[in-house]
Amino acid sequence: MTLAPAVRKAIFPAAGLGTRFLPVTKAQPKEMLPLVDKPTIQYGVEEAIASGIEQVIMVTGGGKRAIVDHFDRSLELEHYLEERGKSDLLHILSEVDDLSNQVDILYIQQKEPLGLGHAVWTARRLVEGEACAVLLADDVILGEEPCLKQLIDAHRKTGASVIAVRRFPRSEIARYGVVVTNGSNGRIHEVTDMVEKPEPGTEPSDLAILGRYILAPPVFEELDRVEPGSGKEIQLTDAIHRVLGQHPVVALEFEGDYYDTGTVPGYLRANLMLAMKREGLREELIPLLQELLETSPGSRSRRAL
Ligand code: UTP
Repeated sequence: MTLAPAVRKAIFPAAGLGTRFLPVTKAQPKEMLPLVDKPTIQYGVEEAIASGIEQVIMVTGGGKRAIVDHFDRSLELEHYLEERGKSDLLHILSEVDDLSNQVDILYIQQKEPLGLGHAVWTARRLVEGEACAVLLADDVILGEEPCLKQLIDAHRKTGASVIAVRRFPRSEIARYGVVVTNGSNGRIHEVTDMVEKPEPGTEPSDLAILGRYILAPPVFEELDRVEPGSGKEIQLTDAIHRVLGQHPVVALEFEGDYYDTGTVPGYLRANLMLAMKREGLREELIPLLQELLETSPGSRSRRAL
């Protein structure tokens, strides 16, 4: 079997306004909100590196300076910690610095937030002619095998563009894009159609699209042509939809724990779940949660957490 070439580049669209998190996102990028003590975008960059990506392309907009600073060295902070002998904290800093030694991080401006499809299109000249990955930092996915690596492997085997999907109960799926599939090979499903946020009762399947993609060049060609769709934004799913039937698109049911940090309840849940996995924090949280359960009216069931 001939494999498609390895995927070397990953686009991180990070130019959205993050309105669901106002006011915190008024002057701070959503992608820098922490999961416990690490910004969500760092989880994505770590995943990309672990998946063999060589070049990260951040699509940023106004007010996103903190992302650039985060992946840069802070000599002042290093100096401060060195003088005080804080080697454990210096180690944390060096781990972040090291990320930009392992991949080149490029920044490109999306001048107006015209949608996810437009953000990806903004990076088109940097990925010309090759399949590339797209990661949405909001969707944090942790597991033994990086989610993106699973997508890359599926792309190499099939030569197709690949969409990450997960099964959700039908009652929850209306918030997502949904794929229609025809024929499967294990966890890889051939995509024949896609529906953005289906009306309840009309869901064509229980496979929801999450924020990881491998896009082959035909999708970029369509991005050139797509007109603004829902919310007057250029939708990535519209461009993928247009290649169906001409270029293979598959959906991969990935393995790993998925945390939706793009909404306030999802973000709080993700923080709590990851904090409970962290030794040192868990011991502090358990008595607090027990106390909350006992004292908060209407939150007697553990499920409520
Ligand atoms: P979202 O749909 O979550 O939009 O974008 P948003 O602006 O970040 O947040 P809300 O909906 O206002 O709360 C999905 C991803 O696409 C990026 C975002 O930064 C996020 O990572 N994006 C979105 C862009 O880069 N540019 C855009 O014009 C829109």
